Amino acid sequence: MAAISLQGICKRYRDHTAVHHLNLEVQAGEFMVLVGPSGCGKSTTLRMIAGLEDITEGKLVIGGKDVTHAEPHERDIAMVFQSYALYPHMTVQMNMSFGLLRASRLPRAEIEARVHDAAERLRITDLLQRRPNELSGGQRQRVAIGRALVRKPKVFLFDEPLSNLDAKLRTHMRGELERLHHELGITIVYVTHDQVEAMTLGTRIAVMDGGRLQQAGAPMDIYRAPATRFVASFIGSPEMNFLPVPAGDGTGRAWLAQRFDASALQGSAVLGLRPEELALAVDCTTPASSPLVWRGVVQRIERLGAEAYAQVRLQDAERAVLVRTAPDIAIEVGQDALLSADVTRLRMFDGPSGVAVPAHA
Ligand SMILES: Nc1ncnc2c1ncn2[C@@H]1O[C@H](COP(=O)(O)OP(=O)(O)OP(=O)(O)O)[C@@H](O)[C@H]1O
Ligand SMILES: [Mg+2]
Repeated sequence: MAAISLQGICKRYRDHTAVHHLNLEVQAGEFMVLVGPSGCGKSTTLRMIAGLEDITEGKLVIGGKDVTHAEPHERDIAMVFQSYALYPHMTVQMNMSFGLLRASRLPRAEIEARVHDAAERLRITDLLQRRPNELSGGQRQRVAIGRALVRKPKVFLFDEPLSNLDAKLRTHMRGELERLHHELGITIVYVTHDQVEAMTLGTRIAVMDGGRLQQAGAPMDIYRAPATRFVASFIGSPEMNFLPVPAGDGTGRAWLAQRFDASALQGSAVLGLRPEELALAVDCTTPASSPLVWRGVVQRIERLGAEAYAQVRLQDAERAVLVRTAPDIAIEVGQDALLSADVTRLRMFDGPSGVAVPAHA
């Protein structure tokens, strides 16, 4: 178990910077998830931690030791890839013990004990004599994790290990990984482009975009207080709504001017509210209790059983607004609707930069 410190890490290829001055502290025993869209630099970052990719600039410290230029085998790290990379001609048992037999001076009995312990934890004991082509995708993935476990490394790195599995197996393996982390207290850095995986697995998540770290924090802190408009729309499903600041000099605008710096309202700021932070009323004669309301027309209703989502078209919003409602709400497509904001959850983002505008206490 070891902490990892990334200090101003950069990765430049000839004419392209894949990672820009990344600063990130991973605590010992933490489950850190790197998440972001395709090409944002997640794998590059992970490969730099593993030593599979040179660090162009900056410093990398693992377990208190500067390993910026250390060879991969000097870092005491195990990496599990999306493509399990098992040896096809070897049994599961051989796949799991091969690395230790070759590179460590551990006695054979110790290696065997570790393989059996890992197999038991991963529930693959009865598969030890099979070859990879006799296993399902989920079983192969478990063998790949087992091969990493037997080395008892200081740090585990995972690069999208579940993306080849079907949805049900993915959910199951998420639970297994969580259990392993809990039982062994190991430090994990886990890469995914799936925000649900990030929210459910990470003790903290680091959101990247375009090679830059956008925000790092506990999943619910990021969900509630995203630092940028990019993070706001990337984390959370369905996505956060972006609503226009009410025009004119009505109560809504006056209320916003008190809550945020009035100067922020001068520009092209937008308001951020998640579907569950808006209430919908179709009887527009009832005065709303919220200081912030919008009028629109119901465009579509999706009833999912336990809840429903209404799409409401506002006159001056870029996109239809999604509102979560009770499944049996009596609304119809084409009806006028009044949306009111839960203002305790309201966020504002600066138009040009997309950076969150702080609210007054
Ligand atoms: N060897 C290379 N030479 C030049 N550019 C590269 C090289 N490897 C990666 N890149 C570029 O660096 C950027 C980051 O790539 P990276 O593989 O880290 O993305 P990622 O976040 O892991 O994406 P994905 O979710 O698709 O796996 C991309 O724009 C990619 O094209
Ligand atoms: Mg990748």
